Amino acid sequence: MKIVISNDHVSVEMKKAILKHIQSRGHDCVDYGPSLSESVDYPIFAEQAARLIASGEFDQAILICGTGIGMMLAANKVHGVRAIVCSEPYSAKLAREHNNANVLCFGSRVIGVELAKLIVDTWLAAEFQGGRHATRVNMLESIAP
Ligand code: RB5
Repeated sequence: MKIVISNDHVSVEMKKAILKHIQSRGHDCVDYGPSLSESVDYPIFAEQAARLIASGEFDQAILICGTGIGMMLAANKVHGVRAIVCSEPYSAKLAREHNNANVLCFGSRVIGVELAKLIVDTWLAAEFQGGRHATRVNMLESIAP
C-alpha cells in the first residue's frame, strides 16, 4: 500500500512524527507537505494529495492541518476521494470498513501525537468490508457534482 502524507504550516511537527511512525511500521509513505513553518495555503496541499489518490498513484492519504477540516473539505472536491476528519480511532476504523474512505484528515491543534498515532494505526489496519457497503459507496460516487 502506498501512502501520501501532507500538511500545512501549523502541522509540520505532527507530520514529521506521523511520517516517522508510519515508516517505522514498514509502510511506504511519501511526504508531499512543507517542512517549514512559513505560512502556506492548505487547499493546495490537499488538492495535490487528493489528485494522487484519484489517479491511483497512491492508495491512501493522510492530511494534517490545524483542525483537519480544511484539508477534508478541499480533498473531497476531487472525484473519487472520500476524505474524513477524525479525532478518535472508532470513526477511523468504520470509515475504512463501511465508507471505504481513502483520505484521513486530523487536526494538529485538536489532538496530540500519541492519539494521532493510534488513529493512524487503526486506519491502516482496517479494511473495506464491501457487500452492502459497496452499494452505498457506489451511490455516494454517483451523486452528481
Ligand atoms: C491555519 O491557520 C488553519 O486555518 C489551518 O491549519 C486549518 O485548520 C484549516 O482548516
